[in-house]
Amino acid sequence: MTLINTKEMFKKAYEGGYSIGAFNISDMEQLQGVMEACKEKNSAVIIQASKSAISYAGVNTLVEMVKTISEQTGVDCALHLDHGPNFEVAKMCIDAGFTSVMIDGSHLDYEENIAVTKEVVEYAHKNNVSVEAELGVLAGTEDDVTSDVHKYTEPDQAVDFVNRTGVDSLAIAIGTSHGAFKFKGEAKLRFDILEEIQNKLPGFPIVLHGASAVDPAVIEVCNQYGGDIAGAKGVPVDMLRKASSMAVCKINMDTDLRLAMTASIRKFLAENPREFDPRKYLGVGRDAIKEVVITKIENVLGSEDSNK
Ligand code: G3H
Ligand code: 13P
Ligand code: ZN
Repeated sequence: MTLINTKEMFKKAYEGGYSIGAFNISDMEQLQGVMEACKEKNSAVIIQASKSAISYAGVNTLVEMVKTISEQTGVDCALHLDHGPNFEVAKMCIDAGFTSVMIDGSHLDYEENIAVTKEVVEYAHKNNVSVEAELGVLAGTEDDVTSDVHKYTEPDQAVDFVNRTGVDSLAIAIGTSHGAFKFKGEAKLRFDILEEIQNKLPGFPIVLHGASAVDPAVIEVCNQYGGDIAGAKGVPVDMLRKASSMAVCKINMDTDLRLAMTASIRKFLAENPREFDPRKYLGVGRDAIKEVVITKIENVLGSEDSNK
């Protein structure tokens, strides 16, 4: 099965009141864990790689690996560039075989964000590739860009942005952030902003970044076996499910997969001090990723049986 863009996936997700999971990967075990889970749940999926993941694994290696494993599993799969920093990186991914790209001009001046997004949309659409852009700023770090405060997406500006760029989906800022430390106090998302955007752009797919739930049980395993992660807090699962029943069609999760893989490998190595075959502990990490993704499909995304 060849890689597909996100157009049909998002249309079905919007109409069905669910979201497609977008999972970050940078190696074979992570990819296999995600794809095995999607196969088991018969769920479509977006596999995504950031610029730094591409530097780590190699762009052609990623494309070939994702093509091969999605063919083996028969899962509807898009390969997406996460947080593309400029036109050149987006073009490189499109030319290499990615079927979807994000151009993240959220840190730029508004008109500059529009200009670079339009440039990517023009090139991507000629190649049947979908484009996601971002408006508003998530607190935390996105690749090389760091912000201490949220800059919530402004609904009227979102309408103007979508109309002027021709982008296929839009990542918005409603209070989520990247990484394991999302909220100091109580978790709060601006569903009023999401609702207003949904009303002003009916049928248009919205993307939620920074959507890991950060399971305290997984943090506990990390810390029990030598980790030192304090004060971690993610987005409550009921909020994510609510977002995916609304206009949100793509939910980005990376941190939860990293934590699950790390916790399971820490535990395995601590309990098996004589083991040094990487397949043993990487295999455990792969199983942990599979388990997390199954839970996401069931409890967060609602995307079971979304595969053709
Ligand atoms: O949004 C950021 C993603 O979690 C990717 O992170 O740049 O460390 O690969 P990364
Ligand atoms: P998390 O850090 O919450 O997993 O978010 C990942 C993300 O948004 C990737 O673009
Ligand atoms: Zn992100």
